[in-house]
Order: sequence, then C-alpha cells, then structure tokens
Amino acid sequence: MIRDRFSENIKEQMSSDEWLILEENYKSDENLKYESLFALSNGYMGIRGSHEDGTKNTLPYTYVNGVFDKSETFMRELAALPNWLGIKMYVEKQLIGVENCEILEYSRVLDMRRAILAKHLLLKDKNGRITLVEGMRFVSRAHVHRMCVRLYLTPVNYSGIVEIENIIDGSVINFYDAPRFKVKHTYVTANENLQKNGIYMEAATRDDHLHVGTGCYLEVYKDNKKLLRNRVFHAFGEQAVEFGDFHAKQGTCYQLDKFVSVYTQRECPQYEIHKKAADEIEKFMQDGVDAELAGHCGVYRVMWREANIEIEGDFALDRAVRFNIFHLMSAANEHEDRVNVGAKLLSGEEYGGHAFWDTELFMLPFFSYVFPETAQNIETYRYRLLDAAKVNAKKNGYKGAQYPWESADDGLEQCPDWTIEPDGTCYRCYVAKYEHHVTAAVAYGIYNYVKITGDMDFLYHKGAEILIETARFWASRCEYVKEKDRYEIHQVTGPDEWHEPVNNNLYTNYLARWNLGYVSPLLRQIEKEQPAVYRKLIEKTGLTKDEQKSWHCIKEKIYLPKKEGTNLLEQFEGYFDLENIIIEEYDKNDWPIRPKKLKHKKASQTQIIKQADVVMLMHLMGNEFSPAMMKENYDYYEKRTLHGSSLSPSVYSVMGLKVGDDSKAYRYLNRAAFLDLLNMQGNTREGIHAANTGGVWQTVVFGFAGVSLSEEGVLQISPHMPKEWERLTFRIHHRDSWLEIHITKENKVQTKLLSGKCKKVIIHGDEVIL
Ligand code: BGC
Repeated sequence: MIRDRFSENIKEQMSSDEWLILEENYKSDENLKYESLFALSNGYMGIRGSHEDGTKNTLPYTYVNGVFDKSETFMRELAALPNWLGIKMYVEKQLIGVENCEILEYSRVLDMRRAILAKHLLLKDKNGRITLVEGMRFVSRAHVHRMCVRLYLTPVNYSGIVEIENIIDGSVINFYDAPRFKVKHTYVTANENLQKNGIYMEAATRDDHLHVGTGCYLEVYKDNKKLLRNRVFHAFGEQAVEFGDFHAKQGTCYQLDKFVSVYTQRECPQYEIHKKAADEIEKFMQDGVDAELAGHCGVYRVMWREANIEIEGDFALDRAVRFNIFHLMSAANEHEDRVNVGAKLLSGEEYGGHAFWDTELFMLPFFSYVFPETAQNIETYRYRLLDAAKVNAKKNGYKGAQYPWESADDGLEQCPDWTIEPDGTCYRCYVAKYEHHVTAAVAYGIYNYVKITGDMDFLYHKGAEILIETARFWASRCEYVKEKDRYEIHQVTGPDEWHEPVNNNLYTNYLARWNLGYVSPLLRQIEKEQPAVYRKLIEKTGLTKDEQKSWHCIKEKIYLPKKEGTNLLEQFEGYFDLENIIIEEYDKNDWPIRPKKLKHKKASQTQIIKQADVVMLMHLMGNEFSPAMMKENYDYYEKRTLHGSSLSPSVYSVMGLKVGDDSKAYRYLNRAAFLDLLNMQGNTREGIHAANTGGVWQTVVFGFAGVSLSEEGVLQISPHMPKEWERLTFRIHHRDSWLEIHITKENKVQTKLLSGKCKKVIIHGDEVIL
C-alpha cells in the first residue's frame, strides 16, 4: 500500500492505491513533469506541483483562470501570478530542502479522491542532522479563495532552533526557462504585512492593470499551542517574507499550517482586495484546516460520485483513466461562465491557457454527461464572445461569426501570426489564418450539448443565434466554382496541421455542410414551438429566407473529396497524389515511430499525417458513412497517422471499436490514458493535455461502454468490453435523469435510475424502460 510510506499523521486519511499517483524518487530533470502531474486546481485557480522549499528546475506557477496579459509577448496568456507556496525551514542556516540535503526517503503522492498532494521526506543535512518532513497541500473547492499547506516536521536526531521563512514570490516569469519567450506579466503594487502579522502581496497585470492580491499566514503548533516567535516581515523587492522561529525538540513532531487566500479585481473592487484576503484568512483560521479539508474532500466526494469510472480487472489502466478525469474535472469552473478550459487546464503554460476546438469536441461531452452545469458555463462563454467572433469574421473578410483558433478572455484571435525559431529567425505561423474548423466545432458543441442535456433554454436564447452566425460564416467562406458547379473551401487547414493550407479539407467541408444544413430545420422547429423566440432571433440576426435558400444550395453542392470508384475518403483534394509512406514500426510504449523516409522529406509532401482527420470526421458523423466505408478508411489512415497531437489516440480508440478492431482500440486507450503519466509526448512539463483527458473519458464511455444517442436523443448502450476488464461502472446524466451503468465482462448491461424521470434506454438494440 502506498500510504504505508507515510506516518500516522497522513496515513490515516490517505486513500487506497487506486486513487494515488506516486513519485518515488526525486530527480531534478523529472521535476517539471511532476509539477504538471501534481497540479491542483479548483476551477478558480490552479497551482503546479512545485516544492515548497524551492528547486532549481522549476516553473512554480499559480494561475487564476481568466487573468490574462499580453505585454511584449505574442498573445494574451494566463499570467503566472505570485507564487505563494514558499516555505523554507533552516536549522543553523542549513535549508531543509530536497536539493540541499541528502534524501534518505522520498515520496510524493497525489491523492485524487481527496485532491491533495502529500509528501514524505527524510532529509539529512550537511551536518548529519536528520529531519522528517511530511505534509500535504490543497486548493479548496469548498471555498475557492482558500488554499493551504500543512507540514509536519520532526527533528530525528537533534534539538535546536528551526528558522522559517514564509514566502510569496512576485518575481515569477512566464516561460522562465525559454530565454526567447520569457515574459513578466505582472508588477508588484503592494508588498506588506497581511494584518499585524502575515504577508500580503498585490500584483497587477501589465496591460489591463488588473490587481491580484495574495495573503498568507503561517503558524507552528504543538498540541494546539502556537509556537512561532520573533516574527519579522521583510519586503525584499518582489518577495514578501515573514521570518519566524521556534525551538524544536528531538523526536517531537511539530505542525506548520500555511493559510493562503487569493482574490482578484474580477471579484471585487481593487481597494477591497487586501481586506478580502485578510478576512478570508481570518475566517479560515477560525474554521481550522481540518474543517476546511473536510469541506474540500466533501465537495470532491460529490464530484467523484458523478465522475468516477471503475474498471475492475485492469488496475493500472483504471487508475490512469481516473487520473485524466481528476485533472479535467478539477480545472473546470462550475460557478463561472466567463472562463473556458484551456488546452493545458491550469497546469502549465503551453498555449497560454487558451481554449481551442479541444473544448467542444474533446471535453464538452464529458461535462455535458457528467457536470451539465459546467457544460452550460462553457457554452455560455462562447455566447458571451459571439460579438468578438463577428469582429474576427469581419476582420478576415467573412460574414457572421468566426471563432478564433485560440481564445482567451476577449474572444479575439490569440494564435500568433509569427513565432521565433531557436536561431532567432521569425517563422510565419499560418494556423490562425487557415485553420477555421473551430467555428464548426463551436456549432457542433451546441448541437451536442443540447442533445445530451435537453437544455432548450440555452438553445433558444443563446445557441440558435450562434448557429445562425456560424452558418453565415461558412456560407461566406465557401467559394462557388462555376466550371464544376460546386462550392469549395480553398486555403484551409484541417485537423491534420502538417498539411497546411490545402483545398477542400474533407473534415472542414463536411462540418460546414452540417452547420449550413442544421439551422433551417431548427428554425422551423423554433418557429413552431416558440414563435416569440423565433421572431426575436430573426430580428436580431436579420436572417432572410433568401439567405437560408443560399445555405441550402451550398450544402447541396459543397465538394466532398473521395477517391473515384472506391470507398476511400480523401483527406483533402490531392492528398492521394502525395508520396504514399506508411508507418511500420512502434516503440516500447506502442507509439508509432516516424518512418525513416521522413528524414529527408517534409510530412506535407507525403501522406503521413499528424492526427485524426478523416477518422475524426467519422467519429463525429458516423451516421453518414456505412460500416464498410468506415473500416476501409480507418485502416487506411491509421497506417499514416503519427499521433503528433494528443488529440489523436483517443479518437482512434473509439473508432477502432466502431470498425471492429478491438485490440487496436485497447492499445490506443492505453496510449491515451498514460500519455501524461508516462510523458509519452515528451512535453508533459508544459501541462496536462486537456483534450486527451476528455478523449480518455470518451473512449471508455462512448467506445468500450458503447454509449450513444439516437437521432431523437434516446440513450443507447452497446458495450464491447475488452478481455482484460471484469466489470465497468460509471454514472451519467441524460436530460432529466441520472443513471448508473454497470457492464459485465460478458457485455451484460445493468442500468439503474439514480434520480429523475422514468426513462427509455436502448440496450443492445432492445428497448428497456427504467
Ligand atoms: C493540435 C490541435 C490542438 C492544439 C491544442 C495542436 O498540436 O494539432 O488540434 O487543438 O494542439 O491542443
């Protein structure tokens, strides 16, 4: 049992192994990866799993979702905020830290059930003094402005004075270890005592001068007696430090609690921030860490009741799936509709906290089925930014609404046009210019969210308007080619970014066609059911019957490339003319090895692709293709997909099952579930791959459990359990009902109605009433 590595203080509360992710040794060059794996967030804010005592190789970032800044960098990105984790303990000037002492014992453990990060360190300093340091931290989900570090310190073979620094560090820099990209997004505006004691730092973003206040108070206890004495506050430039000390006796365990609170100007006026943080800490101290922790764990208990997936018989995979769910559900905000879920959650700096199509197509299905209120917030975020999407479209010469490829807080395009190569040359980045399918993803997300949740209110008052404006965008994006009497989309990039730009990317054309075709019947339905809503919509959007007719015409005549006389869908016009290279080797993690022929050739000259593209289309629009066609295309593209993006393996897993290739599906699920845990893409240090976390959930629920919705929205379950699994259990919301689903090794399905109305479900094709 992993918890046996800890002493009683922590052990008693720690969960069993299926909830725990262990770091067994401290390796400096692995530290950044663990900072991502051990990130904690509560939807409002996120912190990376950095050590309190500081290490050389570290990116100790705190983010508050929605606090963006650009300054001299390429785009608005989540600003790294003052780091409040710092606690340094010294004995006779020797820092008791992982990099200053000999490590005799080391464990850090993420307890996913309780959303805490625990540690056990037995450290020996240069003078031979041995100290046991254990502890845990959490970012409370019961009160999102409260965070806490609790440490237990035991001098094993000495007695003496322990000197402590309680630190907030305002000098943090985004992309700190990337010299060319480093940027400081904040400046310190206050560095002072919290109240009489304690520390407070206020920093503001450089562009918008949005203030963020962080307060901390540290106390040391023995048997409830407060021990910290000689408190002295220092403002060392951008560091706030409170010094204190206490006398420690050999063999005695002392408890240190660091109470932390963060508020920003997004929640209150600037002049109130300091007081808010101080009051919060005061209340937090009155309530006590134990009560807060109990509240926090209570919220997670409820969340896990909704979100947990249990896979019996496949322990490592069961835990890895849980790890993905943990990060996805932790980062999203159930209370706020001004924020989205960034491509790296709140766990790392890559992609600046921006939302991509990743949200709608990979994460939203999870939220719609598991946390519908969060899903609604995510959708409302897009509605709030509809006007900005219209500005984007206009700027680029189109009509309607064009959602940005990368979206932050203002809804304008955040994907840079230029970036810098390691040799200093500028590199033109064409992604935002050509990759337009995100606009279709937003539209599809609305359709899918409403289909799952039945949230007609959202559809009538927000979603329908987005669908009209996105259809308008696609109509203006398509070009009529007279000699062929068809509509085409030129100069476009599909999901596979290694071929950019191309003409007529099948995925994009199909989704544009879907969006254009979806709106008119929907409007007819709204006109019938809600005439007042319909009138308002038409008035607001100025949509005419003629415009709708033109959409119909484009939909009918849009070009969908396919190899003549075969079942093979062509990823884009001319794809089959490219050099036909296939993948032949796989590495020890079952990851495809780049074909040797690509050494002297760009992937764009060949049929090798970065990620699921045609297969992604079949994943979204399976009903459009016959089973034989899906199988043939899956086999063709699978041999040519290098999975250079984390958005790919999960889609190949779900689709592997659809085409009857169960063993491939299982292999792909393993790749997806362990993608970050085993750092399979080599960049976990930059944050958890958010889309993949949602993809993992989809693979289990839509793939192996075979959950789907019929055209009318009836829930269907047709599992294909892998031979490795004994039993699968999970819960989902569908419209007004909450269901528990058990699936046995033999694919027998038991469905229990946990709450809501009596319900029709189709199991293995047979109607069942619950
Ligand atoms: C992928 C995109 C994805 C982005 C953010 C890129 O590498 O190709 O499909 O949206 O990462 O996750």
